[in-house]
Amino acid sequence: MRGSESISSFDHERSRFEQDVLRGLATWPRSLPCKYFYDERGSRLFDRITTLAEYYPTRAETSLLQEHAREIATRLGRAVDLVELGSGSSAKTRILLDALIAPARYVPIDISAKYLAESARRLSASYPSLRVEPRVADYARPMTPFAMPRVATRRAVFFPGSSIGNFEPDEAIVFLDRARQIAGRGGVVIVGVDLPKDAAVIEAAYDDAQGVTAAFNRNLLVRINRELDGDFDVDAFAHRAPWDAARRRVEMQLVSTRAQSVRVAGRRFAFAEDEVIVTEHCYKHGIEDFRAMARAAGLGAGPVWTDSEVRVSLHWLDA
Ligand SMILES: C[S@@+](CC[C@H](N)C(=O)[O-])C[C@H]1O[C@@H](n2cnc3c(N)ncnc32)[C@H](O)[C@@H]1O
Repeated sequence: MRGSESISSFDHERSRFEQDVLRGLATWPRSLPCKYFYDERGSRLFDRITTLAEYYPTRAETSLLQEHAREIATRLGRAVDLVELGSGSSAKTRILLDALIAPARYVPIDISAKYLAESARRLSASYPSLRVEPRVADYARPMTPFAMPRVATRRAVFFPGSSIGNFEPDEAIVFLDRARQIAGRGGVVIVGVDLPKDAAVIEAAYDDAQGVTAAFNRNLLVRINRELDGDFDVDAFAHRAPWDAARRRVEMQLVSTRAQSVRVAGRRFAFAEDEVIVTEHCYKHGIEDFRAMARAAGLGAGPVWTDSEVRVSLHWLDA
């Protein structure tokens, strides 16, 4: 029974991936949802990105958490049910876990199934007395509700990594409303948000000298080739990440370096030279703009912390 359930859920996920890719390649401008970056290789490449000199968001958020984890833990109180959306390696979460007072449970949620299982295993080994319950889910979709442990006092939904910036602003409000519902009455949502800053700093973070972000971006085509019987010539798509000052967002692109025809899942797509596939938007929200978005989602905007160089922010939002 278990076997047939997992096969059918695999087929379901594959067909959703196929539908999303075929739809995205048929629209103009062509686009692919960024959540599909994260197969196992994509998750590992993202972890490498976080160690790059140019990629300030992880370093800045880490230092911010190191500075304020105790204050956040005190505000959260004892026996919190900590739910993290898009937990990845859970590396930064460890800073919070070290400060929390007798957490009731940690629920890391991620779309990258194998990587999540591995991260959760490593975390359980480091925190043997912590109840760790990983869940594979797409946080951009409504989630099946799950109960708090009996001993838990409140739920905190943690969403670090500036991933909120991957939503279009109206979608971000829908997402925050969903996070508020997951947190429930008396709960809190804690969101890491990258701040607008100098274009050169932002563009370097998304187009590093070693080409790791380029490999991460192109990995989406590698995945399509493998899982959807595609024949993308991966090297014939260049990585670009221009900053759009008017919209306050980075647009990650794969740009066709020549006219070419590509087959995906039995369909053909003709690309002109310089034609763009948009793979991700990364919006940078100022503090007051983001607080207004949180209020629009029914959240109470509480304290905001920033790192010493004011590169990233962390928002406490009452559910
Ligand atoms: C930018 S990384 C951030 C990782 C980590 N939270 C951090 O702050 O370093 C985004 C993470 O969210 C996961 N992810 C992306 N889209 C997702 C979605 N729609 N649903 C669930 N997880 C998602 C990815 O697999 C990845 O682990």
